Amino acid sequence: METLQPPAHLKSRRQKEMWKRQLLQNVKERQKAQESQTPFRIAERSLQSKVATPDRPPVVDFTNLENNPPEVRAKLIRVELSHDLREICPLFGRTDDDWSKRRSIAYIHSDIEGLIFIPNPFTESAQRQLIYNCLQKYTQAPNSSSLDAHYEVPAEGVWNLYTKSRRCASNEDDSQLLISRKSRSNNGQKIPESADPYDAPSTSGQQSTSIEKDPDIADIKSEPSLHKPSELLHPSELIRKLRWVSLGYQYNWSEKTYFFDRPIPVPEEAAKLSIAIAKAVEGIGYRQDDGFRWQNNYKGDNYAPEAGIVNYYQLKDTLMAHVDRSELNMEAPLISMSLGHKCIYLIGEQTRDIKPHAILLQSGDVMAMTGASRSAFHGVPKILDDGPSFLQPGTIDENIPDWDVYGEYVSKARINLNIRQVNVDSSST
Ligand code: OGA
Ligand code: MN
Repeated sequence: METLQPPAHLKSRRQKEMWKRQLLQNVKERQKAQESQTPFRIAERSLQSKVATPDRPPVVDFTNLENNPPEVRAKLIRVELSHDLREICPLFGRTDDDWSKRRSIAYIHSDIEGLIFIPNPFTESAQRQLIYNCLQKYTQAPNSSSLDAHYEVPAEGVWNLYTKSRRCASNEDDSQLLISRKSRSNNGQKIPESADPYDAPSTSGQQSTSIEKDPDIADIKSEPSLHKPSELLHPSELIRKLRWVSLGYQYNWSEKTYFFDRPIPVPEEAAKLSIAIAKAVEGIGYRQDDGFRWQNNYKGDNYAPEAGIVNYYQLKDTLMAHVDRSELNMEAPLISMSLGHKCIYLIGEQTRDIKPHAILLQSGDVMAMTGASRSAFHGVPKILDDGPSFLQPGTIDENIPDWDVYGEYVSKARINLNIRQVNVDSSST
């Protein structure tokens, strides 16, 4: 592509530099203005607004079908998983009374090609175990987190420090547990902490935060470095700032690729769960008349969980529209699990110019993004202040004696654990 040259009347290097910078700025602003008008952006804004606007899409509820208006209900199709999840993986939890009613059930939406929704297949205690893993285990080295670019987090991870600080009696000095802010944030790398290039302060006056992942818009605001170099933060402050953790192949946010030279296995439980789901959704599709309009033909036996992201959302957090396209393999399903507070999830198609569908996600719900939906724009415009009672502090869990610590966190948060295959499936090439 031909690069634009500054006009001839600009003589000095400084003038030419300024001209280039202005040009880039104009392009970015034009892009932003265009995006603020896309059907996807309009849907995001309407779901964030306190008053319902006519352009707000209906929120699909796959858990209670009777909650959907008739025209939406007509598009929800019950399908049968090819396996009873619990039979192929005990990590979904032991049978509860409800299980037999839910076994092998999944749903598709006739207008969302490739998306397979499994209403919460987990027992309550299996969900608590997953939350424990996401907070206590996955936040440790070698996994990188959104905090690393900005804070000196020790290898044991922010959660361990936090639980230690809770064990300190309140009058005891816990200054050795404080975490310092790095004096120069992110050493030139664009790593999102919680920056959102679009969102204005929300109506409550608090800044809403989101992660921007779309490689099409490399406009991630880096943190302003107005802080004092010696700033110290208590772990209880930092756990609420944690936005993501990278699992398996570590994600390189500035290059929008993976660090292929650092193969780290995806944690065993997360890997097993995702394999079981990939197996159970094999063959599911939208059948009409005599044939399939679409069908997930990815062989569960070939599914290799190689990377994942854990997203941690506080009530004001959002995830802007993006497509996960850093994986070399876009055919293998992306498996996504929701924990804690409910949220509204949006999924569109290959561009932001198509009006997305809104889906209610609840704790335990699983989605497999197969086929076309794997490369569709999606995001989380809204976290609802509504989570299940069995996650509240005060719940007795014999496997997690200090559940209160986790319960307190998750009674104000949502966690999303998603797993991807990165490499091309060797048996299909
Ligand atoms: C992601 C993602 C969705 C969610 O991490 O790429 O799309 O449900 N997460 O939080
Ligand atoms: Mn995504």
